[in-house]
Amino acid sequence: MICCGVDAILCNASMKAVILAAGYGTRLQRDIENDTTGKFQHLIGIPKPLLPIGHAALISHWIKALNESGCVDAIVVVTNSLYYNTFEDWRGNFPNVKILSDGTENNEERLGAVSCLQLAIKHFKIEDDVLVIGGDTLFKEDFSILEVTTKFKRLKARCSDSNLVLSYPCRDDETTKYGILELDGDQRVCHMKEKPLPSQTKSRRACPCFYLFSKTSIPLLDVFLHEKEMAPIEEKDAPGNFLSWLLLRKPVLVHHISGRFDVGNLSSYIECDTFFREKLSHVKSYMK
Ligand SMILES: *[C@@H]1O[C@H](CO)[C@@H](O)[C@H](O)[C@H]1NC(C)=O
Ligand SMILES: *[C@@H]1O[C@H](CO)[C@@H](O)[C@H](O)[C@H]1NC(C)=O
Ligand SMILES: *[C@@H]1O[C@H](CO)[C@@H](O)[C@H](O)[C@H]1NC(C)=O
Repeated sequence: MICCGVDAILCNASMKAVILAAGYGTRLQRDIENDTTGKFQHLIGIPKPLLPIGHAALISHWIKALNESGCVDAIVVVTNSLYYNTFEDWRGNFPNVKILSDGTENNEERLGAVSCLQLAIKHFKIEDDVLVIGGDTLFKEDFSILEVTTKFKRLKARCSDSNLVLSYPCRDDETTKYGILELDGDQRVCHMKEKPLPSQTKSRRACPCFYLFSKTSIPLLDVFLHEKEMAPIEEKDAPGNFLSWLLLRKPVLVHHISGRFDVGNLSSYIECDTFFREKLSHVKSYMK
């Protein structure tokens, strides 16, 4: 893999955030509808990124941290037609956020995360570094946006093509649920295996959807999607599909964190909400 020289101008390039929120959250909605305690009826029809977590909607935690850290100059949330108005209502609190619909009405029509990212980039003519965040993810308290974006800038000062992703340790029985990163000695990602069996990789490093893509990597989205034009949705659904393709072409480095909240089903939602209500120790500085 080739790297490049220092590019002082790109080091100071500005950054946009794209939050991927076009999923239909079918599993969680099914759990809620099936729940017989009646305690979660108020969550029916709420898209995952807007579920109340502690004192605020899930992605409101991101908006606040992004805004106050000052590391991005625009935030785009990509959702679908079904939830567009719900997101517009929520956005009332955040004038600096833009909402974009991917035009789909149900899960069968979904474009997939990579196409949604591309849609946001084309629609807003983004020509900057891009921070991509999965709208159903929050991290533990050791995570800091400032720390990660500072590391990204430092990497880009050495090589302006650099990209940065996160990784946290997972258990043996969890490799089949996540994208798993294999690293070389320099903390560079050499492979990403999508949901491998524990016997298919020695790595136990899961990769959540939080990517810092350099400006020079963004045009490769077009190339990827063009190559996958005829491919089934499964090959471009997960944002990791692009990442595992990109790391063969551009340097992708890793920043380690302790873990994440994965709000995919009712029990993991309750766990996350309870943590924010009862255990979060630094509410004001969370994720900053
Ligand atoms: C919901 O409940 C039905 C009937 O009890 C059951 O068959 C189904 O598996 C449940 N679905 C989920 C996602 O728990
Ligand atoms: C964004 O941050 C600025 C200070 O950096 C603050 O004045 C403003 O109220 C914040 N907006 C939101 C919506 O949090
Ligand atoms: C719910 O999600 C969590 C986190 O991904 C997982 O560990 C757990 O096994 C899931 N529970 C069910 C019942 O699927």
